[in-house]
Amino acid sequence: MKSQGARPGSVMKKMESSDIFALLESDHEKVIQKTNALIEDLNNMHCEGKASFQKNLGRVKEALHFFNGEVMEHMALEERTLFPYLETHVPRVSSAIRFLQAEHDDFRNNLKIFEFLASELSRQKNDDHRSKTVDRIKETGTYLSYLLRHHIEAEQRSVYQSLERELKPSEKDELRKRLFKS
Ligand SMILES: [Fe+2]
Ligand SMILES: [Fe+2]
Repeated sequence: MKSQGARPGSVMKKMESSDIFALLESDHEKVIQKTNALIEDLNNMHCEGKASFQKNLGRVKEALHFFNGEVMEHMALEERTLFPYLETHVPRVSSAIRFLQAEHDDFRNNLKIFEFLASELSRQKNDDHRSKTVDRIKETGTYLSYLLRHHIEAEQRSVYQSLERELKPSEKDELRKRLFKS
C-alpha cells in the first residue's frame, strides 16, 4: 500500500479540505479526459509513422504512468474501503460491485500487456516488428480506454448514486473517515 505522500495530485492529498465523494468523481472526469487523449495519441502513432514516433511513444508512456499511478490507487481505494462499506450498508448493490471488481481485474491484466508493449516499442529497431507492435498497443490501449469509460459510467450509475442517495448522513461521515484513513 502506498503512502498518502506518493500521490501528490490526487484525491488523497486534497481529501481533508474538500468533499471526498466529489473528489472521487473528479478522478473519474480526469480518467475520461486522459482516455480521450490516449485514443488520439494511439491513432497518431499509427498514422504519423516514423517522424513523430518518439513524440507519440512519449505520450503513450505518460498515459501508462497515469494508469499505473492514479487509476490503480483510485481502484485500490474503492476496493479497500468504498466497496466493502457499501456492501454492508446497501446490500442490494453487491452484484453490481462484483461486476465492477471484475472490471478492475480486467483493467489490471490488460494494463500489464499495455506496459509490456510500450517497453517493446522502446526496444525495437526493426520497422516491421515495430509496426506490428504499434497495431497491438493500439488495440490494447483502445480496449483499456473503452473499458475505463464503460466502467466509470456503470460505477457512477450504481455505486456512486447509492452512496449519495441511500447512505444516512452519519454513514457518509463514517465512510469519509474510513476513506481518509485508507
Ligand atoms: Fe472502479
Ligand atoms: Fe471509480
